[in-house]
Amino acid sequence: MSLGSEFVVVANRLPVDRITGEDGEPAWRRSPGGLVSAIAPVMRRRQGTWIGWAGAPGEELAPFEEDGMALVPVAQSAKEVELYYEGFSNATLWPLYHDVVAPPVYDRSMWDAYVGVNERFAEAAAKVASEGAIVWVQDYQLQLVPSMLRELRPDLRIGFFLHIPFPPLELFWQLPWRRQILEGLLGADLVGFQLPGAAANFVRLCRRLLDARYVKQDVHWDDRVVRARAFPISVDVGELNDLVVRPDVQERAREIRGDLGDATLLLGVDRLDYTKGITQRLQAFGELFGDGNLKPGQAVFVQIATPSRERVEQYQLLREEIEQQVGRINGEYGEIGFPVVHYLHSSYDRAELTALYLAADVMVVTPLRDGMNLVAKEYVACRGDMRGALVLSEFAGAAAELKRGAFQVNPYDIDGLKGTLLAALDADPAEQARRMRSMRRRVIEHDVDRWARDFLSELENPARPQGPPVPASALEG
Ligand code: ADP
Ligand code: G6P
Repeated sequence: MSLGSEFVVVANRLPVDRITGEDGEPAWRRSPGGLVSAIAPVMRRRQGTWIGWAGAPGEELAPFEEDGMALVPVAQSAKEVELYYEGFSNATLWPLYHDVVAPPVYDRSMWDAYVGVNERFAEAAAKVASEGAIVWVQDYQLQLVPSMLRELRPDLRIGFFLHIPFPPLELFWQLPWRRQILEGLLGADLVGFQLPGAAANFVRLCRRLLDARYVKQDVHWDDRVVRARAFPISVDVGELNDLVVRPDVQERAREIRGDLGDATLLLGVDRLDYTKGITQRLQAFGELFGDGNLKPGQAVFVQIATPSRERVEQYQLLREEIEQQVGRINGEYGEIGFPVVHYLHSSYDRAELTALYLAADVMVVTPLRDGMNLVAKEYVACRGDMRGALVLSEFAGAAAELKRGAFQVNPYDIDGLKGTLLAALDADPAEQARRMRSMRRRVIEHDVDRWARDFLSELENPARPQGPPVPASALEG
């Protein structure tokens, strides 16, 4: 494989995980999560190089090609996985950036590991990128890479995209290393967020914390202009269309429906994460049986939960809680042959997921906070038959684009959630079609290719700067 790439993506994870196959031999498996779902199709089409971790501690692997992508592994020791990945990335930043729905851990050895691993990623990118290349750094695990990379390679054009929410000043302020994180991000030429509010939070923090001059969403820093903009991420509509029309996928959807008898199917598909609001949706659904609004056999909830970050304490607690909750609901309301909830703690391939989307009458997406939520958009992209209903949390980034067609809900409000589930179950085909049409228009026009194009053209050909800079102190009290 030739190094010296003109287009480089740097993400904590590669699109494939190194696992041990059933025959005991090393094998590759698609990595979990929305980042990989979105970036993989873009990379296949753009022929760049992807730098990332292969998901297992310790292994030094040579660069390789997989599924049309050039991949450059960056190793992490067991200690780094514990302190940088499970620690600072997923026990500190993840909860802090998601509205502190779990308490963030602030630990100096985790921070030191975060700095060290970010340095290693920056060095790997500096080695792989050709003169003047575009380097696109992804997500909260690598927020120091833009400035570290600029130090090493000032010739590069550096973009950064944050896939998760960026918190308001009042929460970000808690972080003992808040200044370093902001300065790290300011190494980029363009910092992309899912929503305009997140970009505004970032600019406000630059003003307040660094006393940076700014014009609208341009931050003037180190004699450069750093642009902060929103680029709502999306799904690969073409790939999903190809799956939807496959006879085996349609047959599988019919089979799933057949297995469930006459029951209306409500579906949840998530990584097993405490930000996803899984316990809230199951509680609301269970109570509908307790209240007599639903009867066993009349409706069933299928919850698919991909194992995620299994050694982080909050994730272990959540798994126990959900397993107990599912047992309780089925024990209380289920009947022989008619469980109320099917809970599957597993990952499925794209064809099986598509079949589930096609079979589901109501898709239930209830995060307490989510940068975007691609599952909601995948469901919409798959429902060219104009059937089905989407129940969507107001706290998902996707709500900004899908609010006219979705049944919107506040997942903290269990009574409201129950009422919304019933409304979605009651929607007649005409209402389903009207809502689905409006959501599909948006998702089809704004697919993942458009997202990547918008980001990269803003990075390569910046629109004119937004006027002369205003000193931070001029407008702040
Ligand atoms: P996050 O990035 O937080 O995991 P998203 O909803 O944005 O949340 O993206 C999740 C991605 O992972 C989607 O592309 C979805 O199809 C995929 N996914 C979620 N659950 C599963 C599962 N059980 N099996 C396979 N893929 C899954
Ligand atoms: C979210 C994050 C990604 C992450 C993914 C899966 O989508 O934004 O950066 O890769 O979850 O999480 P994991 O910890 O398994 O990489």
